[in-house]
Amino acid sequence: MAITSTIPRSVEWKETYISLLDQQKLPHTTEFLELKELQEVWDAIKQLKVRGAPAIGITAAFGLALHTSSLTVETLEDFQIRLKEARDYLTNSRPTAVNLVWAVDRLVKRVEHAKSINEAKTNLIHEAIQIQIEDEEVCRQIGENALPLFKKGDQVMTICNAGSIATARYGTALSPFYLAKEKGKELKVFACETRPVLQGARLTAWELMQADVDVTLITDNMAAHTIKEKGIKAIIVGADRIAQNGDTANKIGTFNLAILAKAFQIPFYVAAPLSTFDFTIQSGKEIPIEERDRAEVITINGHKIAPEDVKVYNPAFDVTPNRYITGIITEKRVLQGNLTEEIAKLKTESSTV
Ligand code: MRU
Repeated sequence: MAITSTIPRSVEWKETYISLLDQQKLPHTTEFLELKELQEVWDAIKQLKVRGAPAIGITAAFGLALHTSSLTVETLEDFQIRLKEARDYLTNSRPTAVNLVWAVDRLVKRVEHAKSINEAKTNLIHEAIQIQIEDEEVCRQIGENALPLFKKGDQVMTICNAGSIATARYGTALSPFYLAKEKGKELKVFACETRPVLQGARLTAWELMQADVDVTLITDNMAAHTIKEKGIKAIIVGADRIAQNGDTANKIGTFNLAILAKAFQIPFYVAAPLSTFDFTIQSGKEIPIEERDRAEVITINGHKIAPEDVKVYNPAFDVTPNRYITGIITEKRVLQGNLTEEIAKLKTESSTV
């Protein structure tokens, strides 16, 4: 039974604009924005109207293609200069998810040897659409590769939203739950609410319910008790950037869960596409961690919950060291054992295809 129609999508190319599900308004309002200007795309990424590493990459690619399609310049050289300026502008919106840089660089590279401005414009649009098509296939394959790791009825914990709306479709960490549903091997999800921005409560709970996947919401500080009391069998999370040694940046709170998984001796899986690997950095020490506005910590849904002047620290991501990771589920295979060696092999294979 195909259930894909109930899995929500967050971004679509509409020729003259980008249709974007405003994830800040979920779960109570389902509103689609029409992005036309490069600055609107930058703002949407910065303000988390679109979020999740692959979805940020797709939106940035669409933004670059749309912006350059209306450029009026005299020479191909000028076009290339303006393209790179727009690329640099978009990449400074959010620093941690490497998919953003990966996607816009893929566009820039595609038109390196273009013969005319028109050819470059057309190819940029094709490449952006291709990135989205591939991401959907890749996410589905991640789900296929993850599925054998779970038994029917397993209760599995996750954090943040690494789901359909964080990608082209299916998601990474949530993909096995959709596929399990499709194949009649239902799994039960425990979603951590994910303070400060509540991606777990607002987005994961919402999108899994759209597809009728069994989901239970807990607050972040309930994780240890829930693992013990509910017999959680595994934890699965997404990723924003994975270093050559497997160290993984993901939503703040992920590292806590990895430590809990070790303490309870349950597997801790990272699900991510090849586009989330940063083959230029050796370890997690080199991953830039975004720090966001204090308002996210001292307010919930605009309501103040702390003294106005309290000192605040608001890192949006943490880095889970490789030794806590049982396996990294990619579209190629599940990487296990010596992650540095496995990632090196993956890099060689992907550069030879
Ligand atoms: O700040 P966000 O909401 O963009 O953080 C998202 C995450 O941490 C996700 O787990 C990650 O990007 C993977 S999405 C498939």
